[in-house]
Amino acid sequence: SGPMTVGELAKSLKKEPSEVIKKLMMLGIMATINQEVDMDAITLIAEEYGIEVEHKVEVDETQFELIEEQDDPALLKERPPVVTVMGHVDHGKTTLLDTIRHTNVTAQEAGGITQHIGAYQIDYEQKKITFLDTPGHEAFTTMRARGAQVTDIAIIVVAADDGVMPQTREAINHAQAAKVPIIVAINKMDKPEANPEKVKQELMELNLVPEEWGGDTIFVPISALKGEGLDELMEMVLLVAEMEELKANPDRLATGTVIEAELDRGKGPVATVLVQNGTLRVGDPIVVGNTYGRVRAMTNDKGRRIKEAGPSTPVEITGLQDVPQAGDQFKVFEDEKKARAIGEARAEKQKQEERAATSRVNLDELFQQI
Ligand code: GTP
Ligand code: MG
Repeated sequence: SGPMTVGELAKSLKKEPSEVIKKLMMLGIMATINQEVDMDAITLIAEEYGIEVEHKVEVDETQFELIEEQDDPALLKERPPVVTVMGHVDHGKTTLLDTIRHTNVTAQEAGGITQHIGAYQIDYEQKKITFLDTPGHEAFTTMRARGAQVTDIAIIVVAADDGVMPQTREAINHAQAAKVPIIVAINKMDKPEANPEKVKQELMELNLVPEEWGGDTIFVPISALKGEGLDELMEMVLLVAEMEELKANPDRLATGTVIEAELDRGKGPVATVLVQNGTLRVGDPIVVGNTYGRVRAMTNDKGRRIKEAGPSTPVEITGLQDVPQAGDQFKVFEDEKKARAIGEARAEKQKQEERAATSRVNLDELFQQI
């Protein structure tokens, strides 16, 4: 258990409170019988009596995103890397993924601008790779940050004719803050005005130094439009992924993160989630952020209905009571009652926090008026 009062500590040690107070004083801690002592003090006192303290912190189950669940290493299996493509607007991120996937998402985008996070999985040389496409427009900082947080590897796309731009810098900052390895793709190499040396110079200033200049950042010149250099880029992704030794336990209840969510008129709340550990199945009782439900239907990135999704798989799910927030964590529970109880408790807690925030604001306003 966590902190306790001096009285409680004495009781659990079967000692007189006065004796414990004395011991505490000798350790330089002044405390009365009703005062709380922290875990460090408890441990010190227990040691004085030759008792070993079990550090058992009771985790509030509603706080599941704080639980670092440990998997038996023997149960861990290799999982596909999650690769986030980031960079300045129009530098060719979506085109890169279109060419890799033989699709044409770019053409369908309003104004050719990506406004959400796209999640895809591809097969490359018998390996699966999950890609997240992020927007480069300056308005979408949170999406870039979120993309960097759930990823294993960041591909920073820099157009060779344009060079390092504000959102290139921002994307690099997010990746570095998330301690994610970076691969630089110098794009639009087919353009006559392409100047890859200039891009390298500019990135040097951001501590991304190419291997040929004595650094350890991988640079791959590509043309997303013409499909040039993409094999090398994919090889590099797999190489970095291999070094990261990415593993998960597919044989457990799923946990992961919401990539995006919305209310669909026909389907109700719909969430695109990334399974990060375990396997998500249709019918699973699930808590997602401050809402809950039972996975009613699952659709993969190709629009196909699937029954289960393992680690690193992006899927769209329906069956939630409410629309969660992008960035929310999810967790599957064994029984629906528990999922419901936890979901409701979290929703209630959120309401209370919102109320507290409003009353604080009101107090501030009041003081301003006086
Ligand atoms: P945002 O998502 O809005 O940040 O843009 P983006 O980075 O996804 O860029 P997108 O893929 O939409 O490409 C922007 C423009 O650059 C399009 O007109 C593409 O055809 C063009 N483009 C992308 N890659 C290349 C390339 O390798 N060579 C040339 N010449 N043009 C490219
Ligand atoms: Mg795009």
